[in-house]
Amino acid sequence: METVFTYYGHATLGLHTAETKLIIDPWFSGNPWVKFSAEDVNADYLLVTHAHGDHLGDTVAIAKRTDATVISNFEICEWLGEQGIKTHSMHLGGDFQFPFGQVKLTTAMHGSSFPDKSYGGNPVGFLITTLHGKKIYLAGDTGLFGDMALIGREGLDLAIIPIGGNYTMGPDDALEAVKLLAPKQVVPIHYNTFEVIKQDPHTWAARVSAETNSEPVVLKPGETVVL
Ligand code: NI
Ligand code: MN
Repeated sequence: METVFTYYGHATLGLHTAETKLIIDPWFSGNPWVKFSAEDVNADYLLVTHAHGDHLGDTVAIAKRTDATVISNFEICEWLGEQGIKTHSMHLGGDFQFPFGQVKLTTAMHGSSFPDKSYGGNPVGFLITTLHGKKIYLAGDTGLFGDMALIGREGLDLAIIPIGGNYTMGPDDALEAVKLLAPKQVVPIHYNTFEVIKQDPHTWAARVSAETNSEPVVLKPGETVVL
């Protein structure tokens, strides 16, 4: 049984097993990387790292249409619950065994207000352990923090981290993050969507190859990593 990780573009990600489809930060409408409509997206679970528009994205529309359960922090789940959406609320440091695997909420150093300015709680990352024991760390929007070393102690198969700078870690700090996380493979995200987060992922990947034991994987939208 394998897990397929898909990069849709910006911070929109998929994690599919034979039985379950997860979409993380489901921003499709207006996402310049994406060439299809949010109406074509199916999901059993939607994972939302924080309430900013480029992450909350089409959560409401997709959840209403597909009846997917949203996994996020308490505040985001409350906001969604008021709109009749099925949620499973969690919070930092907590973990839960879902039918598809275990999810733990990790620290992210960022903000989390909704597009309507209401409070979205603390932003989070996700540490997902699949049913066949693969560990996947989705950092979410974050700056570099030293406790990434603790997450790295889990023994990560795949880390997905922002490299764009301005709103999150830039290339230099993201390289430090790889050293702390020590994943087998690392996928850079959250770059080139806007002018202020313009980066060359291949230059960054070359530095990762030269300075760490992790394998950088630069994905085009729609490309996958099979775990
Ligand atoms: Ni953000
Ligand atoms: Mn963002």
